[in-house]
Amino acid sequence: MNTVLVGAQWGDEGKGKIIDILSGRADCIVRYQGGSNAGHTVVAGGKEFIFHLIPSGILHKGTICCIGNGVTIDPASLVKELDGLSDCSIGVNGRLKISYLAHVIMPYHKVLDTLREAKRTRRIGTTGRGIGPCYADKINRCGIRMVDLLNPRVLEDKLRDNLKEKNEIFKKVYAHPGFGFESMYRQYLGFGKRLKPYMCDTVVYLNRLVEENKDILFEGAQGTFLDIDFGTYPFVTSSSATSGGACIGTGISPDKIDKVIGVAKAYTTRVGEGPFPTEFNARFSEFVRNKGKEFGATTGRPRRCGWFDGVMIKEAILLNGIKEIALTKLDVLDGLPELKIALAYRYKGKTFKELPSDFEVLTRAKPIYKTVKGWNESIDKKGGYKDLPRNARNYISVLEDLCRVKMAIISIGSAREETIFVP
Ligand code: GDP
Ligand code: IMO
Ligand code: MG
Repeated sequence: MNTVLVGAQWGDEGKGKIIDILSGRADCIVRYQGGSNAGHTVVAGGKEFIFHLIPSGILHKGTICCIGNGVTIDPASLVKELDGLSDCSIGVNGRLKISYLAHVIMPYHKVLDTLREAKRTRRIGTTGRGIGPCYADKINRCGIRMVDLLNPRVLEDKLRDNLKEKNEIFKKVYAHPGFGFESMYRQYLGFGKRLKPYMCDTVVYLNRLVEENKDILFEGAQGTFLDIDFGTYPFVTSSSATSGGACIGTGISPDKIDKVIGVAKAYTTRVGEGPFPTEFNARFSEFVRNKGKEFGATTGRPRRCGWFDGVMIKEAILLNGIKEIALTKLDVLDGLPELKIALAYRYKGKTFKELPSDFEVLTRAKPIYKTVKGWNESIDKKGGYKDLPRNARNYISVLEDLCRVKMAIISIGSAREETIFVP
């Protein structure tokens, strides 16, 4: 069974936790897009791990973890993650596979990311990890791929060419001194040497697993509304975070995908700038942020918080082909007297039941809410579905009616055990 897991909102839905849990039954976990802008948290045995590039299934010793061609890899960040795992005595030899074709994030991508942000009239609020500039180079056909780090001649040609053009841009547009060739060249050849044991033709490898009927779990990063095409453009990331990206980013054809699971928080959060129709006012946002520890796993930035947005989730179900939802952080809603769910938006006398494409409408529209009763009790984190407060079960069933999709997994805490598989 090959399953794609995608974020149904703006990222940080708890994908890492759900991937870790599902990894117990998978043979291979593959990241297919994004880069170290992702921060996926897994809490296992009381210890917190945050993964940026390495798939969140790595803690299960019997799994193969793969970084597909669609990912942009910052080798420095990857090496740091590998060292972190090694410090915890988690071995990855023989079970980490990195695509030859994945693009490499270079120091100039990261600096350009920051400089571009500073120049924009309306900042995106990127993670500063060089994601946009690296994907731009990929599309512009001047990117450097992992396999190039293994061939000194090819790397030299590509890097010289890139630096020639980029240094002019750095100097003329950004008044930045630019980058020298030699030390960067040596450093990246070094990364090549270090990462060579893991690099392979992942397309052939993964398709062989498919032929052998192994179970592959595709780990989406970011979320549906950060997708370059379908997200709240231009306040998005630069990759295809929706389920279609799983095929492009791995070389597995669409007919091999059996199921798509969406991960959604029981409310909504967003890091960075951009429209957010159901956003709370500043005071309530701060209250929920502290309750739900809503601070970015990559940058530590405070996450903006808001009500569950049914308009968005329905669009996410449509775009991704979601058949089941894993609903996370239900426990954070403990003790709220009432909860709101957006059913539609209203702008200039018009009602929008679907996500408006017009940026102005999306920015200014006011949600039409359904209000349901909250629960006073604290969710019993060791309990099952029947032990959930009655109003929590009611909230879930209202969401199910709205989405017409089963909430198959309910997460009620960050630990593995704090998870309910709904019968
Ligand atoms: P991801 O990017 O989608 O993997 O999500 P992040 O790891 O960035 O953010 C989710 C945060 O919520 C992490 O700190 C998780 O440990 C935590 N978390 C996940 N599920 C739950 C839950 O059900 N309840 C609570 N309280 N925390 C959760
Ligand atoms: P995970 O996988 C939440 C956001 C940034 C910014 C926009 C563009 O942990 O869910 P980028 O650096 O990608 O060019 O930034 O996208 N963003 C995320 N927000 N979770 C993420 O990943 C994100 N990755 C990028 O905050 O608004
Ligand atoms: Mg995250």
